[in-house]
This record gives sequence, C-alpha cells and structure tokens, in this order.
Amino acid sequence: MATEKVLRMNPADHEISYANNSVTQKEVILKIRPIIEESIIDMFNKIVPIYRKVADLGCSSGPNTFMTTSHIIDNIHGICQQEQLKFPEFELLLNDLPENDFNSAEERERRYSAGKVFYRRSCRLFPTKSLHFVHSSYGIHWLSKVPVGLEDNKGNIYMARSSPPSIFKAYADQFQKDFTNFLSMRSKEIMPQGCMVLTCIGRKNPNPSKEDYGVVKEADVDSFNLPYYTPCREEIAEIVEREGSFDIKRLQVFEANGSPVLSREEQLHNQDLDFNVYLEMRKKTANGVRAISEPLLCSYFGDAVVDKLFTRFATHVAGGLSNSKFHTIVVSLTKK
Ligand SMILES: C[S@@+](CC[C@H](N)C(=O)[O-])C[C@H]1O[C@@H](n2cnc3c(N)ncnc32)[C@H](O)[C@@H]1O
Repeated sequence: MATEKVLRMNPADHEISYANNSVTQKEVILKIRPIIEESIIDMFNKIVPIYRKVADLGCSSGPNTFMTTSHIIDNIHGICQQEQLKFPEFELLLNDLPENDFNSAEERERRYSAGKVFYRRSCRLFPTKSLHFVHSSYGIHWLSKVPVGLEDNKGNIYMARSSPPSIFKAYADQFQKDFTNFLSMRSKEIMPQGCMVLTCIGRKNPNPSKEDYGVVKEADVDSFNLPYYTPCREEIAEIVEREGSFDIKRLQVFEANGSPVLSREEQLHNQDLDFNVYLEMRKKTANGVRAISEPLLCSYFGDAVVDKLFTRFATHVAGGLSNSKFHTIVVSLTKK
C-alpha cells in the first residue's frame, strides 16, 4: 500500500497529538542548529538575493516546523544586520503528505500566510531553480511504500536479526530508489549553491543483520511491514554521490534521546517519587511512539486493537526504551 495513503502523524486535536508528543524530534532540531547556521553563512557568501524561498519538507503539524523556520529567518536577519544588508522578503513552504493535519483551528492559525503545498517525494513540487534553502527533519527514512518481496519476513514487522538477506536487500533497494528520486527532484528546484539540510533516523551498523532492532514479534503481524528504513551514514553518502547533483558539506551522526526528558516542573513535582517519575517517562515514551504510528497501525489493524496495543506497549516496551537513543544522521548538502 502506498505510504502516502496511510502515513500521518496524530492531529492537533487528538488526545495524544504529534504536536504535544514530539520532544525527540524537537531535540534533533535543536542539535542541528549549528549545522543550519553554517549552511546559511556559506550560502550568503555565494548568493545575496532580495528574497529567500525556504521549504520544510515533511513538516507535520505542531510547533517543530515553526521553530525550525523561524530559526532560519532569524539567522538570515542576523547576518543582514551584521553586513548592513537590506532584509530579504521570505516565502515559506511547509509541506507534508495530504492526510496530515492542515485543518485544525490551531494549525490554521499557525499556517496563516505560510502557504501549503503538498509534498510527494518523487514528484516535482516547485519551479525550476526557485528554492534557496530546504530542510527536512525525520522524514526521509519513511519509504514511499512497503518494499516488495517481504513474504519471507514472517514474525517480523521490520528488518530483524532473524530476517533473511532478501529482506535487507528489499528495504535497502526501496530506500535507495526513494532517496535518489528525492535528491533528483530537489536538485532541479534548488538553485545552484542553494542548501539542503536533512536528518533521519539511522543505523549504526553498515551490516543491517548485525543491528539490534528490538522489534516485537507476533504471529498475527506476519503480513504487516513498516514502510520505513534506517540507512547507515555510508549508504547516505553513496546515494548522494551516485545521484551527483549535490556536494556533501557535512555528514554527521549523533544520538537523540529515545525517551522524553521530564520538564523541570515535572521533576520538581515528582522529586520524592522516583517510581512515579519512571511511570510518567514510560507513558511519555509510549505517547511519542503512538503520535507517529497510530494512524498507520489503525489503517491496518483497526482502532480497537490499537488502544490495547499501546496500553501493553507502555507497560512492556516503553520501560526498555527509556534509556535508548535514536542514532540520527544529519547531512548538509550544497547544490552544485
Ligand atoms: C516524524 S515526522 C517529522 C515532522 C517534523 N519534521 C519534525 O521534525 O517534527 C515525519 C513527517 O514526514 C512526513 N513524510 C514522510 N514521508 C513523506 C513523503 N514521502 N512525503 C511527504 N511527507 C512525508 C510524515 O507525514 C510526517 O509528518
């Protein structure tokens, strides 16, 4: 099934919304700020247009995209001030799959004047050489569809140590196809010397059969497979180089917290109750996973099962995830 039909984050009016349960993604966005700043300075040395067109691809709903785009604008303003240049005008394009929440009152308010264009990875979205800066965070590891040829992946819902080699190849091939398409479409839209900064969840080990995926096994999930792929940094470098339109300015890996850190207020409130803190963290971890996967799981297993699934997930799995880290890859590219 095409991912675009079923993939979306929980909307703003959902009890467990993506907007309120995406702290890991927020942490990633904050961590890559220096790389975005470096990219903007570099771009300024080469192009000084009177307007800037910036796109956030796979922006989802909620505050993260606004945090990113306002950081980009503030930075450009800062440089203009320093260099005594006129502030450019901005056009911001916030893009995601059509089923995402663009319609709640809160979201409408946020998107006022931002303009929305729906984003499909393998299609042209913008006019030729029109973009100066493209950002996409935690989006490109989603595949356009579940790879074909996963029939032998019985008992797993993703690549697992017990998967036969054909499964790793099917996932890697689909990622290579999707990512190459993405680069090739964006290369036509980004102007020469324009920049693109991408982050995705990655894999530490170049050999996928050695990675610890920690996926839950169930006989009744034999025919379900996640449309998702965690590349290693070598794969990202190889695909960018083979596609050929971009120079890699930076390719780094870092770890992001798999479990949300409690706010200062929450910590103070719970300071004598270690066990309560632990339970709260477990619930938040489960909610973070639920906010990104609920619509996808509901489309396959139905709403009734999903409630039960996440109650069990909070009890059995989220505790184990509390100390886990998301291996994250960030790549900063310049259009040749
Ligand atoms: C985990 S969210 C990240 C949202 C936001 N960038 C952030 O960092 O908080 C991933 C987003 O990528 C979007 N996405 C995944 N594949 C996509 C595709 N092929 N085209 C457009 N959006 C896609 C999803 O719909 C989702 O909103």
